[in-house]
Amino acid sequence: MKYKNIFITGANKGIGYEFIRQFISNDDPPSIIFATYRNASTLQDLKTLQEKSEITKVVLIKMDVNDPEEIEIARQIVEANVGEEGLHLLINNAGISEMLPIDQVTIENIEKHIKTNTIAPLMITTVMRPLLEKSAFQEDGHRAAILNISSTLGSIELTGTTLYSWVDPMVPAYKMSKAALNMGMRVSSMPLKEKGILIVMMCPGWVKTDLGNKEKAELTPEESISAMIKTIGELNADHHGTFIDRFGKPIPF
Ligand SMILES: NC(=O)c1ccc[n+]([C@@H]2O[C@H](COP(=O)([O-])OP(=O)(O)OC[C@H]3O[C@@H](n4cnc5c(N)ncnc54)[C@H](OP(=O)(O)O)[C@@H]3O)[C@@H](O)[C@H]2O)c1
Repeated sequence: MKYKNIFITGANKGIGYEFIRQFISNDDPPSIIFATYRNASTLQDLKTLQEKSEITKVVLIKMDVNDPEEIEIARQIVEANVGEEGLHLLINNAGISEMLPIDQVTIENIEKHIKTNTIAPLMITTVMRPLLEKSAFQEDGHRAAILNISSTLGSIELTGTTLYSWVDPMVPAYKMSKAALNMGMRVSSMPLKEKGILIVMMCPGWVKTDLGNKEKAELTPEESISAMIKTIGELNADHHGTFIDRFGKPIPF
């Protein structure tokens, strides 16, 4: 399964940046990648990638995922670039994690996570959906899909069990926001099925990024994202609406 035009949020660093680095150096790279950021002062690495990219056109878009006006401007930029071809892959990647344990959690901490990690991806999906519908069912070997970067920490069933090399931390806000993301996207998957848009929630593993912890985490971004890109390429209709790890193995909701 190939994806020609790709939109990815939170692309200036971490997992988002590594997705772009690997996509543009693929044997069969995408035509256009729309890479969003929110602060121009963080763009140095992404601009270097943009300049290095020989085949893929990398379009940088300023977009705070919590700003509906910036999301609408982003949609217009995508539409102007892709035309009738539409958008093939939306990667809802931008996210935050400010882990306060259950006895210290605040309303503000919970609201922040739900806003950025749950509501924003749902709203971006709604706005980008017509562009994904354009590419769905095209007979050119390309597909329309939405990849939501979720987390095993959002698994209700695995709460309190041993995850990675430690016991699941009792940090409600992040965990609630990813569990709610999974539910929101599971609901979205129902109407999207007949529109030919595949939707999955995927955990990248524990990755060395600012969010994941650059010292302690188990995986380099290279390792995590290469596995995810391989899995994305192998997704089929059976994966629709599922919560999976980077290898495509189901994670219990
Ligand atoms: N790393 C892990 O171990 C791990 C595990 C499971 C899931 N995840 C998920 O993977 C995704 C990416 O995380 P990461 O590890 O790559 O973390 P990261 O290096 O901290 O990157 C997070 C990205 O999200 C962006 N972002 C945050 N809030 C935003 C907002 N309001 N508007 C626009 N962009 C915003 C950040 O932009 P700024 O640079 O402007 O802040 C940055 O580009 C997240 O959804 C995270 O929950 C990560």
